[in-house]
Amino acid sequence: MSTETMTRPVNLILLGPPGAGKGTQARMLEEKFGLVQLSTGDLLREAVAAGTEAGKAAKAVMEKGELVSDEIVIAILSDRLDQPDVTKGTILDGFPRTEAQAAALDTLLADRGQKIDAAISLEVDDEAMVARVSGRYTCAACGEGYHDEFKQPATAGTCDKCQGTEFKRRADDNAETVRTRLSAYHAQTAPLISYYAARDALTRVPAMGDINEIAADLGKIVGGVTEG
Ligand code: AP5
Ligand code: MG
Repeated sequence: MSTETMTRPVNLILLGPPGAGKGTQARMLEEKFGLVQLSTGDLLREAVAAGTEAGKAAKAVMEKGELVSDEIVIAILSDRLDQPDVTKGTILDGFPRTEAQAAALDTLLADRGQKIDAAISLEVDDEAMVARVSGRYTCAACGEGYHDEFKQPATAGTCDKCQGTEFKRRADDNAETVRTRLSAYHAQTAPLISYYAARDALTRVPAMGDINEIAADLGKIVGGVTEG
C-alpha cells in the first residue's frame, strides 16, 4: 500500500474501549499514512517483559484490568515521543485515558511544537467486546493482530505480514478482566469524549462493522486532517 504524502506531522488519538479496534486500525493507518502508532499498552507490556521498575509496578495492575498510574504512563509516553521516528506524526492508541493524561499530552506536544489534530472515538457495543478480546491473538514476531473468528491469517498458522509461525495471547484477555477493563474505560476514559468534543476536535466513527470498511471511513477522516 502506498504512503500518502503529508505536508506536516499530525497527531491523532484513537479512543475506545478494549476490543474497539484501536490497535487493528492504528496499524492500518500507520501503513497508509506513514504515521507512527504509539500504544501505551504495548509500551507497558514491553516494560513488563523487560522487567524495568515501571514494568514491575504495572504488571499486577494490568493483570487486574485496572489503569496504571498516570505518572508511569506519562513518563513512558514522554520517552517515546523523544525518539526520532515520531516526527512523522503519531496515532495515539490507548493514550490518554484520564483527564490528567490528556492535559499532560497537550504539554508534551506543545513542548515539541506540536498539537492534537483529531480525537477519533470508535463507537462499539460493550457486549461484543468480550468476544472480540477473548478471541484475539497476535504474531509473536511482528505484532500483527488476529482473531479466532473475525480475522484469521490467509494461511492458517502463518502470519500474513511476516510469515511468522509463532503467535501469542495477552495475560489480560479473559472475560473477567475484560469486564474490569470496560468498567475502567467508562469511569475514567469515556469522559475524554466530552473533553475533546468541547475542543471541537472529536469525530465519532461507528466501529461495529467490517474491519476494512471501518478502515476506509478512518482513512477519509485522517486524509482530511492531513490535507487541512
Ligand atoms: P491496551 O493494550 O491499550 O488495551 P485496551 O485498551 O484494553 O484495548 P485492546 O488492546 O484490548 O483493544 P483494541 O481496541 O486495541 O482492539 P484490537 O484492535 O486489538 O491496555 C492494556 C492495559 O494497559 C490497560 O488495561 C491498563 O492496565 C494499561 N494501560 C494502557 N494504556 C494506559 C494508559 N494510558 N493509562 C493507564 N493504564 C494504561 O481488536 C481486538 C480484537 O478484535 C482483535 O482480535 C481484532 O482482530 C478484532 N477486531 C478488531 N476490529 C474488529 C471488527 N471491526 N470486527 C470484528 N473483530 C474485530
Ligand atoms: Mg490494543
